[in-house]
Amino acid sequence: MNNDSDSQPAFNDIDRCELDQWEDDLLRRYPNPATSPPEPVSEKLVSDEKQADEFRDYAAEARPGVREFYRLNHRYQTYAFVQQKRRQYLSLKQRKMGIWTALEYLNTLVDDSDPDTELSQIEHLVQTAEAIRADGQPRWFILTGLIHDLGKILCLYGEPQWAVVGDTFPVGCGFSDKIVFHELFADNPDSQNPDYASDLGIYQPHTGLRNVCMSWGHDEYLYQVVRDYLPDEALYMIRYHSFYAAHREGAYTHLMDEQDRRQFAWVKAFNPYDLYTKSHRRPDVEGLRPYYEELINEFFPPELHW
Ligand SMILES: [Fe+2]
Ligand SMILES: [Fe+2]
Repeated sequence: MNNDSDSQPAFNDIDRCELDQWEDDLLRRYPNPATSPPEPVSEKLVSDEKQADEFRDYAAEARPGVREFYRLNHRYQTYAFVQQKRRQYLSLKQRKMGIWTALEYLNTLVDDSDPDTELSQIEHLVQTAEAIRADGQPRWFILTGLIHDLGKILCLYGEPQWAVVGDTFPVGCGFSDKIVFHELFADNPDSQNPDYASDLGIYQPHTGLRNVCMSWGHDEYLYQVVRDYLPDEALYMIRYHSFYAAHREGAYTHLMDEQDRRQFAWVKAFNPYDLYTKSHRRPDVEGLRPYYEELINEFFPPELHW
């Protein structure tokens, strides 16, 4: 254990969980192709160099709160920090509750930024699930949409937002320059640790992501809670939906195995439902509840360990 934990900011340094700020910013980074103006053909022909510029422009124009969020996330998500959080939470002794109770619990999390216009957590989840359902996807896929952010109850346990949301990435090996605000990893002590700083770090080539420790957040926590109940495709979606460097930018293939390559097709298929289904028309959560309770009961026991 190194001394990282001593130097972490107190939880009240970030006194509220502005979860939606990060998600709104994702939409700025990856605009909906269906609603954005088409890119002129001439620009499409320009090479990767152009894309690198776009990445830099995106970072330059980010709101100060977003940059500050990533400053904390990239500074404090070390291998040691992740091990500490895994020990703290993965014995799953926080609570015992069913999925619908967890949805209602998550919904007590109010985003202070704009409570009148922002959707509640449960509304985002139901909108995601309804879009998946409308496309005729399998029932486990719809259920995955409904629950994918339940790990955000970490915020209700008092975790700061940089340890709940934000892009996830492997720890214990070099930080890819495809991770947003990559330059902020200069302040992460693991960048100076010779065991961790190389491309492979502590891992073998193509070891498989199941052997790779990811930064701590809502994805990994929920994966551990539901891992016994859903098909692998669903578990990949849950565990890696914030791993944008991999599923949007193509990084970390040197750690992936054949199974990862196959399953990432599902992670990619899930992402548009997560990012592009937010509408200000509030779903009728109570009206839809019987349908979703039946779906939940098809896969999950009445109570799970959280
Ligand atoms: Fe999420
Ligand atoms: Fe989400």
